[in-house]
Amino acid sequence: EHSGEFENEPFLDFSRKEIRTLFRAALDRVRGSLGRKVLPRIGGREVEGGEETIRSVDPALPSRTVAEVRLADGKIAARALEEAIRFRETWRESSWETRISILLRTAGVLRSRRMDLAATEVFETGKSWTEADADVCEAIDFCVWYARMALRLKESGLSSPPGEENRLRYEGRGIALVLPPWNFPLAIPAGMTAAALVTGNVVLLKPSLEAPLMGALLVEALLEAGVPPGAIHYLPGRGETMGRQLAAHRDIDLIAFTGSRAVGVSLLGLIGNPSEGQKGLKHFVCEMGGKNAIVVDDDADLDLAVPAILSSAFSYQGQKCSACSRVIAVKGIHDRLAERLVQGAEALSIGPPEDPEHRIGPVISQRALERIREYVGRGLKEGELLLDREIPEKIRETGGYYAGPAIFAGIRPQHVLANEEIFGPVLSVLKAESFREGITFAIDCDYRLTGGVFSRSPSHIDEAKKTFRVGNLYINRGITGARVGRHPFGGLGFSGWGSPAGGPDTLLQFVTSRTISENV
Ligand code: SER
Repeated sequence: EHSGEFENEPFLDFSRKEIRTLFRAALDRVRGSLGRKVLPRIGGREVEGGEETIRSVDPALPSRTVAEVRLADGKIAARALEEAIRFRETWRESSWETRISILLRTAGVLRSRRMDLAATEVFETGKSWTEADADVCEAIDFCVWYARMALRLKESGLSSPPGEENRLRYEGRGIALVLPPWNFPLAIPAGMTAAALVTGNVVLLKPSLEAPLMGALLVEALLEAGVPPGAIHYLPGRGETMGRQLAAHRDIDLIAFTGSRAVGVSLLGLIGNPSEGQKGLKHFVCEMGGKNAIVVDDDADLDLAVPAILSSAFSYQGQKCSACSRVIAVKGIHDRLAERLVQGAEALSIGPPEDPEHRIGPVISQRALERIREYVGRGLKEGELLLDREIPEKIRETGGYYAGPAIFAGIRPQHVLANEEIFGPVLSVLKAESFREGITFAIDCDYRLTGGVFSRSPSHIDEAKKTFRVGNLYINRGITGARVGRHPFGGLGFSGWGSPAGGPDTLLQFVTSRTISENV
C-alpha cells in the first residue's frame, strides 16, 4: 500500500443481494452480542474504572443497551498518564517504518471486520447502512492516507552546502489527548488517533460518551495491529471533569479535538493558561461546527440540486458538521425550489436504521431531540413553516429519539435559524435578490466549513470559487461526505483551526520540527 496512487476504500454495494444478506447477518451477529461491558484500558489492560457506569443505548430503541461502560475518573486518568509518560520517549524514538506499518496493519484489521463495525454503528449511533459503511471506509482511509503522508516526513527537505550537513527532523510532540465526537464514531477518532500515533505521539483517547463502544473497538483494532500497549490508552469519562483535568494537565502536549464550538473555545481558553510546572505551550488541533449554505442560482438544474440538497440536509438526520442547514435561493428559482424540497422531504421514510428502507433514523439522544424541537419552535416565530414531518405512531411507540425533517422559508440572515448550528434535520430557506447577494449571505456567518453552489453560469461559478470562502466548497454536488485524500476537510472562522483532516498537511500539526546543522 506504499506505492501507486492512493485509492479510497470502496463502499459496500448494497444494491447487490449477496451484500445485503451479508450485512443482515452482521446486524444479527452484533444484535446478539449487544450489552457487553466496556472498561477503561490502560497499557493494553482493562482496568476496573471509577464509581460511575453508564449505558450506551440504541437511539432507535433506547430500552436496548448497546454497552455498559464503566467510566474512568480522575484517578484512572492519572494512572493512564503515568503509563503514557513512561512510554513517551520510546515511542517518539521508534522508527517511522515501524509506525507506518502498524497503521497499514490497522487498516487491514478494520477492513477484515468492516461489516461488524458498521453494524455496531447502526445500533450505537443510529446510522443508516450506507452512512455506517462510509464511516468505516473513512477510518480505513485515514490509516492508509496518514501512513503514506508519514513517509514524506521521514525526509529532510533542507539544502546542505559543502561542509555543512543540515537535517530537519520531524518528531512527535509527546502525549496527545484525542477528543472525538459521536457523529462519525469510528472515522473521526481513528483519524485523529492515527495521525497522532504515526507521528510518534502517545495517545489518550477519550471517546464521546454517546459512542463509547465504537471507541473501544477502535482501540482493540489498534492493539491487535501492533500498536504497543504503552502508546494507546482508552479513557471513557466525563468531559467536564476527567476531560478537562487531562486537558489542563502539564504533561499533555497536544489536544486534538473535534466537536462543538463552545467546547472548542473553552479548551482554547484552558490551553492559554499554562498549569503549574508545564514546560511549554500545548498544541491544539480543532475542528468545530458548521452552518453550511447551498446557494442555488436561478438557472440551476433542479433535478441535480434537489436530491443533493435533501441528502446534504437530512442524511444522518442532519447530524454532520458538513450538513446543509441553509439553502439560499436566488429569487427567480425560490418558489419552485422550495416546493420541490418539501415534496422530496415528504417522501423520505422515517424509522429504525436497521431497515435499509428508512432514510431518516433517530437523532442521538433525548437531549438532542429537545434542542432540535426548540429550534423548530424558534423557526415558527422567525419564518414560515413549510414542513414539519410527523413521526408515524408505530415508530413513536418504540421510544426512539425521532425528529422529523422540518423546512422553513422566509428566514433572513439575522435570524437565529440562519446562524446557530442545530445539528438536526432542520433546513432554512432564504431568498436572495441576486447570486452575489446569495454568496454574501452564505459567508456572512461565524461558521465557514462547507458550502455549495448550484449554477449553470460559468461566470457565477468562477465568482463563487473566489468569494465563497469556506473550507470545503462543492460545486453542483452535495456538500457532505468529504473523502480522505480527495477533499481535505476543515473550516474557517469558528468552524476550525489549523490544517484540514485527511489532507497533505494534516500531520504537520502533530509534530515538532527541529533542525540539526553539522559542520562536516
Ligand atoms: N467529513 C464529514 C463530511 O464531509 C463531516 O465530518 O460529511
